Amino acid sequence: MSDLLQYMSEVSADVDRTLEGLIPKGPSAKLYDAVRWSVFAGGKRFRPVLVYATGEVFGAGRESMANTASALEMIHTYSLIHDDLPAMDDDDLRRGRATCHVEFDEATAILAGDVLQSLAFEAVCGDLRLEASVRIFVLAEIAEAARRMVDGQHLDLDAEGLPTTIDALETIHRNKTGAMIRASARCGAMIGGAEAEELEAVTKFASSLGLLFQITDDILDVTASTEDLGKTAGKDLTSEKATYPSFYGLDRSRELASKVHADATSALAQIPRDTSRLIEIADFILSRKS
Ligand code: IPE
Ligand code: IPE
Ligand code: MG
Ligand code: MG
Ligand code: MG
Repeated sequence: MSDLLQYMSEVSADVDRTLEGLIPKGPSAKLYDAVRWSVFAGGKRFRPVLVYATGEVFGAGRESMANTASALEMIHTYSLIHDDLPAMDDDDLRRGRATCHVEFDEATAILAGDVLQSLAFEAVCGDLRLEASVRIFVLAEIAEAARRMVDGQHLDLDAEGLPTTIDALETIHRNKTGAMIRASARCGAMIGGAEAEELEAVTKFASSLGLLFQITDDILDVTASTEDLGKTAGKDLTSEKATYPSFYGLDRSRELASKVHADATSALAQIPRDTSRLIEIADFILSRKS
């Protein structure tokens, strides 16, 4: 196993332990079974990995980041549960298993997403390992990202089947996916006590990384198998989604992905610390297979 994969599996284990403690079992057992069905289905835990890796650049300890990383993963999982609903992308496979509304029912899936959003904010509010001022910054960051994710999701749905422009496409991607990734890196940096200019550089890095993540998601929808993705491949074409491959074709999309990757890594040069883990993460996203 490569060093990065080993690191990702350590972070996943840490975050899964934290999530276990943060997610209750009731009062509605069915609701929390649905939450657990989606949360503990083996996602990549990319947002928590980015929180930890960015925080560690600035000397943050893992215990100080566990709840924040788990909160971001809970919001992300809520976004996936809702993204898969019949009213949105109407998918029946996620993280290699039936989607929440298929395994349970639609109302339960809607409420599982809703409750995950509240649990995320509770996890940060109640994290006494963070100073109150840091907690407020982290909460504001996550609230903004969660709102921008919803903005992006609405733009994405509204753009289905219609001609788009590159500006509109980039706005969708930077909001629906980029905002949560940007927030993950910024939260890690804030917990680590990054200086203002360092936080600025982290923001540039993670904004590009977030866009890169969705460009590669669009590419994988065309090139990867349902088995490798754990979600139905080829859905973007049938749903007439606005994507990089549908706008530019695959070759040009890959070129743009490389360019956005270079934007991400060059921003790290502004940080006079060891950012090699963040470079590895950017490389991983550029070449990911799922
Ligand atoms: C999928 O996210 C949805 C997007 C924002 C593109 P991930 O690819 O991170 O999904 P999991 O968490 O690994 O399942
Ligand atoms: C979803 O984008 C972004 C979210 C906020 C969940 P997609 O609709 O492309 O994500 P997948 O491909 O279903 O994972
Ligand atoms: Mg979608
Ligand atoms: Mg989708
Ligand atoms: Mg997709």
